[in-house]
Amino acid sequence: MLHFSCYIYAFLLIFIFTFAAAFIPDGRFGHSSILIDSKLYVSGGFKFIDDGRLNLTNEFFYLDVSKSFTTTDPNSMPWTDLTFTGGPDKNLATACSGNNNSIFIIGGNGVLNSQPPPFVNQFDINKQQWADVPFHGCGLKNRVAVSCTGFNNGLISIFGGCTNTSGSVEFVNDLWVFNTLKSAWGISIAINAPLPRCNYRAITLPDGNILYIGGNNSTSLMPMDNLPLYNTTSIAWISVTTSGATPPGRQRFSAVLTLDGRIIVFGGIDYESTFLGDLWILDINTFQWSAGQISNPIADLNISGHTATLVNNYMFVTFGLFNNESASATIYMLDVSQKDSYAWVTEFTPNATNLM
Ligand SMILES: *[C@@H]1O[C@H](CO)[C@@H](O)[C@H](O)[C@H]1NC(C)=O
Ligand SMILES: *[C@@H]1O[C@H](CO)[C@@H](O)[C@H](O)[C@H]1NC(C)=O
Ligand SMILES: *[C@@H]1O[C@H](CO)[C@@H](O)[C@H](O)[C@H]1NC(C)=O
Ligand SMILES: *[C@@H]1O[C@H](CO)[C@@H](O)[C@H](O)[C@H]1NC(C)=O
Ligand SMILES: *[C@@H]1O[C@H](CO)[C@@H](O)[C@H](O)[C@H]1NC(C)=O
Ligand SMILES: *[C@@H]1O[C@H](CO)[C@@H](O)[C@H](O)[C@H]1NC(C)=O
Ligand SMILES: *[C@@H]1O[C@H](CO)[C@@H](O)[C@H](O)[C@H]1NC(C)=O
Ligand SMILES: *[C@@H]1O[C@H](CO)[C@@H](O)[C@H](O)[C@H]1NC(C)=O
Ligand SMILES: *[C@@H]1O[C@H](CO)[C@@H](O)[C@H](O)[C@H]1NC(C)=O
Repeated sequence: MLHFSCYIYAFLLIFIFTFAAAFIPDGRFGHSSILIDSKLYVSGGFKFIDDGRLNLTNEFFYLDVSKSFTTTDPNSMPWTDLTFTGGPDKNLATACSGNNNSIFIIGGNGVLNSQPPPFVNQFDINKQQWADVPFHGCGLKNRVAVSCTGFNNGLISIFGGCTNTSGSVEFVNDLWVFNTLKSAWGISIAINAPLPRCNYRAITLPDGNILYIGGNNSTSLMPMDNLPLYNTTSIAWISVTTSGATPPGRQRFSAVLTLDGRIIVFGGIDYESTFLGDLWILDINTFQWSAGQISNPIADLNISGHTATLVNNYMFVTFGLFNNESASATIYMLDVSQKDSYAWVTEFTPNATNLM
């Protein structure tokens, strides 16, 4: 009898292992992603379904970056599907952490012609459960195409974005702070807020201030040589003038900050809807831009609606929309360890001493 149940147990283990290893996500874009505890979580976005139609997805899964893999071999990728947890059906949302135990998926468009989605969906990582975070009035309207960023150990800010009520899009420029420990929202009283914008990127600098890059309003792209900075200590907006060759304006691009103080900007779309594949570096000590040199560029890797995440010395460019109107199912990894030379790589080996 004992023998028999041991046999069943072993069989189940093998079955579960085989099943988990088989999950390979399809291409998507307009998703949100966040790295917590060596897991790169991906939520929602758009997928192409039959006849090239776009559909929202509530798929939710992670890549385990404590393991090795080769991005050109999908079967080697340690993905784990968590869609069964019932994540939000959203695109153009943004993901932040704050308290290390939860993921907050903020804003975004929901299913067409139905109730607006909850503004904040919280995923408890330990319990593997979703909850809607209630928010009452306060004048905070649902919005899309925002970029959240954590600061001061447990606070998350969102600035501006677009409200989208029944397809009527309005650009806004209020700044809200979400206290993840108290589940409470507050609005910033700072005056002289920058112009309204969507599709920008927010980066928290090592001093705790927040830098805003790129984006667009209904008539223009935002200048890249004059960047709004929110001083989280003095609660004030200032404007940073950059030097160096200024990158072309863009929206739906990515930006990551390296440990040695470089913001790396990649891809996006320009005003004429051209997809971009260029790399730009902003030194946060001098606020000088320079063009990033990729030693082995990938032809036609022009992409938007992707996310980028720093994992050790690599920038992971996760999913996205190619300029040929197909969605990327790939993670492109850029080695960002050298200031003056960047290289695409396909082999990932975890860095045990440097995992986040
Ligand atoms: C389209 O998205 C909706 C909402 O997520 C989902 O219920 C439906 O099954 C999807 N349709 C297809 C064909 O994937
Ligand atoms: C989250 O984790 C980081 C790194 O372990 C730690 O420094 C920080 O205090 C944690 N934040 C909170 C709000 O617990
Ligand atoms: C606004 O919502 C409509 C309908 O749900 C959608 O088609 C459109 O893409 C949304 N606009 C933006 C800017 O997200
Ligand atoms: C700017 O952003 C909005 C909202 O995301 C989008 O609907 C619009 O097409 C963009 N406009 C241009 C010219 O890029
Ligand atoms: C749109 O952005 C451009 C460039 O920053 C700016 O000159 C213009 O005033 C903005 N329009 C609105 C309505 O904010
Ligand atoms: C932010 O405000 C603090 C307090 O007033 C000040 O010490 C600091 O220099 C400011 N930082 C920037 C980048 O302006
Ligand atoms: C790809 O992006 C580069 C710059 O980022 C641009 O010069 C080029 O025209 C783009 N190619 C296409 C096919 O859009
Ligand atoms: C679209 O472009 C990407 C990037 O260049 C390429 O990998 C992919 O095969 C292309 N897809 C189609 C359907 O042409
Ligand atoms: C691993 O971490 C160390 C220390 O942070 C760093 O010097 C090294 O370059 C990292 N290696 C990789 C492959 O990320």
